[in-house]
Amino acid sequence: MLEIAENGRTWILSGPASSYALHLTAEDELLHLHWGPRIALADAEALAVRPLPEYWPFESPLDGREEYPVEGGPRFTRPALSVRTEVRRGTEWSFEAYDTEGDELRLRFRDDGLTITLHYRMRDDILERWVTLDNQGQDPVELLRADSATWTLPDREDGWRLSQLHGRWAAESLLTRTPLTYGEKVIGSRRGHTGHQHLPWVALDTDATEERGEVYGVALGWSGSWRIAVAQLPDARVQITGGAGYDDSGLLRLAAGESFTTPVFAGLWSDGGFGAASRAWHAYQRAYVIPDADQDRPVLFNSWEATNFDISEEQQRTLARRAAAMGVELFVVDDGWFGARTSDRAGLGDWAPNPDRFPSGLKPLGDYVRELGMQFGIWVEPEMINPDSELYRAHPDWVQYQAGRKRTEFRNQLILNLAREDVQEYLWEQLDTLLSSAPIDYVKWDFNRCFTDAGWPGEPYPQRLWVDHVRGFYALLDRLREAHPGVAFESCSGGGGRIDLGVLSRTDQVWTSDNTDPLDRLAIQDGFSQIHPARVMAAWVTDSPNTQLNGRVSSLRFRFVSAMAGVLGVGGDLAEWTEEELAEAGRWVKLYKEIRPLVQHGDLYRLRPPRGGLSAVQYVRGGETVVLAWLQAQKYGEPVPSLRLRGLDPTASYECPETGEVHRGVILLHHGLRTGLRGDLDATVIRLRRI
Ligand code: GLA
Repeated sequence: MLEIAENGRTWILSGPASSYALHLTAEDELLHLHWGPRIALADAEALAVRPLPEYWPFESPLDGREEYPVEGGPRFTRPALSVRTEVRRGTEWSFEAYDTEGDELRLRFRDDGLTITLHYRMRDDILERWVTLDNQGQDPVELLRADSATWTLPDREDGWRLSQLHGRWAAESLLTRTPLTYGEKVIGSRRGHTGHQHLPWVALDTDATEERGEVYGVALGWSGSWRIAVAQLPDARVQITGGAGYDDSGLLRLAAGESFTTPVFAGLWSDGGFGAASRAWHAYQRAYVIPDADQDRPVLFNSWEATNFDISEEQQRTLARRAAAMGVELFVVDDGWFGARTSDRAGLGDWAPNPDRFPSGLKPLGDYVRELGMQFGIWVEPEMINPDSELYRAHPDWVQYQAGRKRTEFRNQLILNLAREDVQEYLWEQLDTLLSSAPIDYVKWDFNRCFTDAGWPGEPYPQRLWVDHVRGFYALLDRLREAHPGVAFESCSGGGGRIDLGVLSRTDQVWTSDNTDPLDRLAIQDGFSQIHPARVMAAWVTDSPNTQLNGRVSSLRFRFVSAMAGVLGVGGDLAEWTEEELAEAGRWVKLYKEIRPLVQHGDLYRLRPPRGGLSAVQYVRGGETVVLAWLQAQKYGEPVPSLRLRGLDPTASYECPETGEVHRGVILLHHGLRTGLRGDLDATVIRLRRI
């Protein structure tokens, strides 16, 4: 809901539980008024007339209070907007007008030829903010920095705490919480993709728990380099600024008539602790971000860990038969099916099936997989190129490079310059042909290295390559989705290197991590769940001992229950699994399909975080609930704690369909559920149905 004061200078956007209010002064300063519990327009108007504090000349009353601090004038905070023309640097805007479209509010400002429009849209209790910059003048304008939004937190005496998700390859989205101190905490990526190192999300609280307390969260929807800066200013006020690009050294140059729309930076205020904040983020993504989120994601098999590059059609058929017998619904051929791709040294760029491995293309295998009753999927990495490829031999200038400098190879590959239209057109033709050549239902889209030599000889403003690569990637995905509406896409980047709200608005799921060890995964999944829903969190059951990382031995039970907390997949070498293992796996897959609606579309409650002992999550949907619990190690023979459940009706009773046991709601809520777990690496799934 959007309300506007009579004088047209105070605006308030409200969701069911929260409000966000802003005010334009007579001097055209756009001030932040409120972000928190729901308030009325009259409350916002009362806030608007409170005078700004007076300071000695060493501080500015605007700092920490503006909606979108620009560079220039009496401001000492980090600017969200920094622009330069031939003659001037910085911005001094005047207000032009506001307008609304549906529930979107737009505030338009102008500084000479540059029009700056701030956009606000409340979706449930998530506020989406972004900015458009239009150069309507005659001369070019350089955007040194153009953030999506600046968020302002209310004054709190007890100090703020920052939650973030950090990591690296095979250890993504690990949650940490630290007190915020004076100065700035900056996270981001200057790698050209979202990165494994930080998810573009932070949360701030003062004293929240999983169940209680105020939590502010913000998340950026951009799949290239990005930055979120959390600043605690001299008077302890806190602001969060974020947007595309890591540095302030130049994002784009807008020629006359050109414009730039920043990515969306979304924000949430919630007062139900970290758990309620996560559930609100999940519901928002399922309702507004993820395509077709109401549809179940199928159980998939992926051949990567089973075969690596050593693949053949016959071997894939064998795996497919075993996968189908287990109840798998989508069979995915990973790397190694195309060009001269028999190792990571060659083939990227040549998206036609390898004639030795697939003499008649992918169609016969795809048809076979379909006959087995499964969907068929493939792996691609379109933005990349091996120097040993037909494409590179034909177009060595299609890559990102600096004239006269080394071309840095990671994993023997270079990055295509997707800002070039000819490159985009080539990829479109290759991928469109590929998707038309075989019955392909799913594409795992990978990105396996960071930018290093992001140059573009001959281009007068090569910096634009960073933004235009992402725009090119999005445009390709959008075009392919439109032309092949039945095809689902997974975002992968060496595991979880490209997970953000931007890519999630055009993909169906993400590859959470190359780390498929079921114990490590619990922490990765716990972090992931702070912001993203299980509906997109792909998780595979792979071999024991773990082949990729650590040789850890774990039971099929533990591996399955770990992976069943997301979109279940199987990635082990099924050719080596015994009849008993295959049969047991089939039973887990069957169980997963039964609990899938709860996991993929239900509300998530994190009952205990994975910190060494017992951990558990619970999904609730209507009168059904399911608990997935894991015991890492039982110590000193102590009894394993009961799990106090959430989201149930205390007056109802719940029956376990497997055992017929009946539990009283109030007891489950206040005294807990006994799991029966013991020893090391034990796990269980407990279903309960309201009676
Ligand atoms: C990346 C992915 C893996 C696999 C390999 C193939 O590392 O994350 O799952 O697809 O590439 O080369």
